[in-house]
Amino acid sequence: MFSFKPLNCELVKSLSCPGAPTFIEVKLEDLSENPRLDSESKTCILPEKYQHFADKVRNFEVFDDDVWIVTFPKCGTTWTQEMVWLMDHDLDYHTAKQINLNRRSAYFEIGAIANNLSVDSISNTANLPRPRHIKSHLPMALLPKQLWTVKPRIVYVSRNPKDVAVSYMHHYQMIMGYRGTEKNFLEGLLADKVMYCPQVQHVLDFWRIRDQQNVLFLTYEQMKRDLVGVLSRVSQFFRKCFSEEQLTELFHHLSFDEMKKNPATNNVEMVAAAMQMNGRGGEKFEFMRKGQVGDYKNELSVDYIERFEEYIRQKLEGNDFDFSH
Ligand code: A3P
Repeated sequence: MFSFKPLNCELVKSLSCPGAPTFIEVKLEDLSENPRLDSESKTCILPEKYQHFADKVRNFEVFDDDVWIVTFPKCGTTWTQEMVWLMDHDLDYHTAKQINLNRRSAYFEIGAIANNLSVDSISNTANLPRPRHIKSHLPMALLPKQLWTVKPRIVYVSRNPKDVAVSYMHHYQMIMGYRGTEKNFLEGLLADKVMYCPQVQHVLDFWRIRDQQNVLFLTYEQMKRDLVGVLSRVSQFFRKCFSEEQLTELFHHLSFDEMKKNPATNNVEMVAAAMQMNGRGGEKFEFMRKGQVGDYKNELSVDYIERFEEYIRQKLEGNDFDFSH
């Protein structure tokens, strides 16, 4: 079903880090199981470890009451997980504060990609109490094939690749322990050779199915610009009816400042454990970093901004999607 190509070019080798020392290109060989995929959607860069899990992921049993939150990394996944979990659980703030978000909304493939983690997150996810809330960064081609027949709810979130580049760079350095240059990391993204790339294709595959009843396509920028409007779309998607007061309370709960001080959502423990495992123990890094649109202007050089804009232009050519949505 899949082929696995070791990646040994200098650029990919330079992206080695304690969290992911070696990478492969995973390629879905048989597109027939998902007619929605176009011919460019078949590959994904992942840590070598993933090859032992690819078939298990693809054959994972899906239930119709599952909720899947799918994103490229650093697109506001955590923010969306909290929003979606609360909506689907009738705003049960009590449980949301007691139980860490990572337990309420499980990271499906973490055990299949994280070098120093020996948990079988795929089996653990299978055994979650239903309705299961499942987060994944895998592209459409690699996700369980039953998603396309069972059709559970899928919430997809995209974010502008320039802000993703900056957010991912900090994540890669501090959480995955990358000690290489920022230049190599950015070149890796532009060459679609960083973990989970290609990025724009990831988005386009879900943009193409955005009108399916079980799919909700959101963007980080929309959530920042008009969270009230997004909350209303999400509540319709979950067929829930909340009062204005309830939505105002949820709006407040989901604000950057509230989620940053909330131990159930700010990922402090997860980050500390990952930093310890990946050689950054004792250093300071906050998962809830800045939470802004346009932060790339503070961190990317003019040259890289132009190159990312050209990269986006080329990758979106012939499509009706643009990252200002
Ligand atoms: P920055 O690194 O740009 O600050 P993910 O959950 O997909 O890893 O995404 C993490 C990004 O979402 C980080 O972006 C983080 O700060 C931002 N984020 C998390 N919660 C947020 C919130 N409530 N409001 C706005 N941004 C949020």
